[in-house]
Amino acid sequence: MLSAGTQLRLPRLLSCATLVLLFQVTDAKRDLKSACTTCKQVTDNFNKGFERTAKQNFGGGNTAWEERTLSKYETSEIRLMEIVEGLCDSSSFECNHMVEEHEEHFETWWFKRKTKHPDLHKWFCVETIKVCCPKGTFGPDCNACVGGSERPCHGNGMCDGDGTRGGNGKCSCAHGYEGDFCLDCIGGYFNEERNDTFSLCTECHASCKTCTGATSQDCDECKEGWEDDDQEACIDVNECSRDPSPCEEDQYCHNTEGSYSCKACDKVCSGCTGPGPDKCQACAGGYEDADGSCTDVDECSQSESVCTKEHQKCVNTKGSYACICSVGYEEEDGECVQSPPPEEVEETEASETTASPHREL
Ligand SMILES: *[C@@H]1O[C@H](CO)[C@@H](O)[C@H](O)[C@H]1NC(C)=O
Repeated sequence: MLSAGTQLRLPRLLSCATLVLLFQVTDAKRDLKSACTTCKQVTDNFNKGFERTAKQNFGGGNTAWEERTLSKYETSEIRLMEIVEGLCDSSSFECNHMVEEHEEHFETWWFKRKTKHPDLHKWFCVETIKVCCPKGTFGPDCNACVGGSERPCHGNGMCDGDGTRGGNGKCSCAHGYEGDFCLDCIGGYFNEERNDTFSLCTECHASCKTCTGATSQDCDECKEGWEDDDQEACIDVNECSRDPSPCEEDQYCHNTEGSYSCKACDKVCSGCTGPGPDKCQACAGGYEDADGSCTDVDECSQSESVCTKEHQKCVNTKGSYACICSVGYEEEDGECVQSPPPEEVEETEASETTASPHREL
């Protein structure tokens, strides 16, 4: 009889084994795809090596003796060895492992199969070591992809595992398409052409959320920022003509197709209808209207003096003015007092730097 402990332990051990098995299965599935990728690299490199050695010979030119005894370089073992040496990067474990494991296959193909089976990828990767499948097929038995091997996913997507012994043959659709067969159109696209095996999805007009055709009159529903007009077409909503304006007071509104934007008024304006100093609704403080454009007021040249303290002078700035102490005077408690004589400058330097910025002018 089993003790309670072993009864519990057994199922747990079993589920652990299942997990390990599951991991191995998913791992193996990924391996199947990458094995084919590796094999493709190997055969691609073989073909490159074949081309690279096309103009070569035994070195120093083929002598008649060499051709007689070693056969032609073109079909020689030496040429094969030179090609095989260049099949993998030294760092690629998977590639080197594959080439080592199957080296005799390359010899077989080179000497016996090349003429009848000129496509090395097909002969080696698909038919001999069986890590790849023919194009348009997938999985251990090279079944046809969804939509058939001629046009996997009906030409509108990628078949999972296409050309490898891995994958599940399901489609990931190209942009604009959806569904198991990649024949349906996503929202915002419509079927320009469609039958059981062919589908062409085209983007709707910018004004449509959904549609049956390409123009703004073919919308099923207008997109936000567009509205039905009298002719049953979707037309742009002019958000800027709304009252109140959707923008802030120091912004002007710019209507765009399907939307609008708010942009800052020129700083000389207090409210505006567009960009620049001539599109102001009113001028900002310190600016006045001159021929329809807001320009700076020169406060310093006004008849009534704005800087009234003794030894003060007026400096005009954009949109304002400043009162600063005349040369030889400096500000102290809001008054302009005579600057200390030069020898005292060093002592007062610290307090000077914290004084008002007027001094810099
Ligand atoms: C489906 O449409 C395509 C493209 O117009 C055409 O080539 C194909 O023959 C059509 N197939 C059927 C079954 O009607």
